[in-house]
Amino acid sequence: MHLPHIPPYKTKVVEPVYFRTRAERTAKIEEVHYNLFNLHSDWVIVDMMTDSGTGAMSEQQWAEIMLGDESYAGSESYFKLIRSVQHIMGFEFVAPTHQGRAAENILFSAVVKEGDLIPGNAHFDTTKGHIEFRKATAIDCTILEAFDTTIIHPFKGNIDLDKLERVIKEHGREKIPFINITVTCNTVGGQPVSLKNIQETIALAKTYDIPVYMDIARYAENAYFIKTREAAYADWTIQEIVTAMFKDVAVVWMSAKKDGLVNIGGFIALNDAALYEKLSQFTIIYEGFITYGGMSGRAMGALSEGLKEAIELDYLHDRIEQVHYLGAQLKKYGIPIQEPIGGHALYIDARKMLPYVPLDQYPAQVLGVEAYIEGGVRGVEIGTLLADRDPITGLDRIPELELLRLAVPRRVYSLQHMDYVAVTLAKIMERRDNIRTGFNIKKQAAILRHFTVELSKI
Ligand SMILES: Cc1ncc(COP(=O)(O)O)c(C=O)c1O
Repeated sequence: MHLPHIPPYKTKVVEPVYFRTRAERTAKIEEVHYNLFNLHSDWVIVDMMTDSGTGAMSEQQWAEIMLGDESYAGSESYFKLIRSVQHIMGFEFVAPTHQGRAAENILFSAVVKEGDLIPGNAHFDTTKGHIEFRKATAIDCTILEAFDTTIIHPFKGNIDLDKLERVIKEHGREKIPFINITVTCNTVGGQPVSLKNIQETIALAKTYDIPVYMDIARYAENAYFIKTREAAYADWTIQEIVTAMFKDVAVVWMSAKKDGLVNIGGFIALNDAALYEKLSQFTIIYEGFITYGGMSGRAMGALSEGLKEAIELDYLHDRIEQVHYLGAQLKKYGIPIQEPIGGHALYIDARKMLPYVPLDQYPAQVLGVEAYIEGGVRGVEIGTLLADRDPITGLDRIPELELLRLAVPRRVYSLQHMDYVAVTLAKIMERRDNIRTGFNIKKQAAILRHFTVELSKI
């Protein structure tokens, strides 16, 4: 008999959860115009809106909060962060930023110009936004398997090398300042990239003399998938895999709110002194002095520790097991999810789960609202509301997938919470024949409408 798996931590501080009745939740969601972003968090029972900045810190990280050196320049907490990044990632220069998109702002200010192309895999929406803001274009070269939720492929985040080479040949390397690899791919379901694919992408880029940059928000989870899904690396340590992932990568940037295990923070890391100097100018304009760049000393200290904890095998095993446990429960109830299950979230295919809701009535938002009413579970729509309108026609862009994402915060919830979430969805599944209408838009902003949109029930 095997001892069952248990988390490699225990609880020291607790945060209350408030229970409201179904009738109270039904009235509340109508009051906030069916927009889940408008809910106060104390009206939510299990909050799965995002895994970004929502994790629980360890006692060592809280100790770093107390030890935080808040000196404007040259704080000890900054040097702790530098040492962690140098040791784990092998980059000499580190530019702290307040979060991931600030790193994108600084980096792209230095290297992206109008007319440029940035090929890569499933660019995150802020990445794409910062590229398009500079009148450049992100070209998605993710393998096609990523866009079919039923295809089983261990590395759905992989780059299609033929497509990448066609893009380079067609447009010329002069237009391409860098190739962008995202690990893991948030936008296609937390899907990882294999080490083989990373190495082949770097080799291809080298033949055209193009540098490779990496968006490493969830790099530790990606390394875990390499260890567990890519046979050649089964015996490697996570640190060895991380070292191999970053070998020959010119620049990495990180939203530390994910695998940095902190509530706020980010950074850019690189070995090129000249580029670091250029970045420093933008850090000073946009973020703050180069030794804090938008982070407090205590936040840098907590991040220096979080980076070490996030590559511990026990932690990663527990993290991925929890996400997969929820996936298995959902499957048990016949709920259609993106497979294989990725690193940080479950993605429910709303078109399949609610087949009677017309496509132009926002089925994934309908599912999100139903999950809130049924059990106080808050997810987020990754569908037509998020895809927004075509800037030329003003009509809704219909994305390939209409998903409700249930993201799992790190070290926050128990398996009991996962059971609760699965039963909430199962109860919606039971009554899905009666869910036949969705929403009209009452009010929407010019861009990024999903955050503030107001909806009415049809
Ligand atoms: C892959 C990826 N890159 C960049 C970002 C942007 O980071 P932030 O939210 O810290 O600005 C995110 C955030 O979710 C992300 O998932």
